[in-house]
Amino acid sequence: MNDLRDRIEHIVRQVVMETVERSADSWLPAPFVGGRRPLIVANWKMNLLAADVQKYLAGLAPQIESGPEVAICPPLVLLPVLRAALGKHSQVALGAQDLHPFPFGAHTGEHNGAMIVDAGADYVIVGHSERRAAGEQDELVGRKLQAALAAGLRPIVCVGEQLDERENGTTLKVLRNQLSIALAGLASPLPDPADLVVAYEPVWAIGTGRTATAAQAQEIVAFIRERLGELLSFAWAARVRILYGGSVTVDNAESLAARPDVDGFLIGGASLDPDKFSKIIARAARVKSLDYNREVER
Ligand code: 13P
Repeated sequence: MNDLRDRIEHIVRQVVMETVERSADSWLPAPFVGGRRPLIVANWKMNLLAADVQKYLAGLAPQIESGPEVAICPPLVLLPVLRAALGKHSQVALGAQDLHPFPFGAHTGEHNGAMIVDAGADYVIVGHSERRAAGEQDELVGRKLQAALAAGLRPIVCVGEQLDERENGTTLKVLRNQLSIALAGLASPLPDPADLVVAYEPVWAIGTGRTATAAQAQEIVAFIRERLGELLSFAWAARVRILYGGSVTVDNAESLAARPDVDGFLIGGASLDPDKFSKIIARAARVKSLDYNREVER
């Protein structure tokens, strides 16, 4: 039943998008809507050292604070280093890349939400595909989401299909499952929509240089928003930020950010270079019609 519905929805979205795209640039610019302040997140993954932090921050454009919200998710041990070093970029938020679902206990090598808050973070990524590849299932993602909210962190919940799933036409089914299981524990009162972020990261696009087209990203992000609405509340879902991640670069940032449902990015490789990261932020700011000094684009 859902399969048929997904297929019909997919076809309808294709037709709508093709019609819109035939009228060139009709979707540019796309001012941010629904009170969703665009969010650009750097996921450093397992890269950089404390010695790199000052140079990285010095390389960020000073104006990045006047545009989208910006967050950096470094390796956990660098959170306090970044917190202490942020200085003039004090508006830049920090995030962790994972957390343990339990609040305390005998879990060698793990970190709970309170520790992550204590280390200076506001956000935490949960369910990243690189952790799912290490065996993390949707139920655990859901428990981590609950633990993050309970600790006062803003979870960035990652979902996305594998290449074979895209190729055999099961993308929407996979996403529907991931969302319904991971979000199953969310009940009323729902968290403030600003406190929960979803990131659509197609696994085939991560670190491969093969980015989803802007049309593919918009289709899936809109689908995710619909599912959030169905599962929880449409008014709430309209205010939740949904990011795209997977080989985002300076060159593709503008067309991706121009899509109305794409509220920002979760960026791996390109976020390791502060100049590229600043330019991506600038381009997203421009298409979302945010006040951002264009000098960054020199
Ligand atoms: P890349 O930007 O390197 O493709 O990584 C995306 C990602 O996994 C961010 O979490």
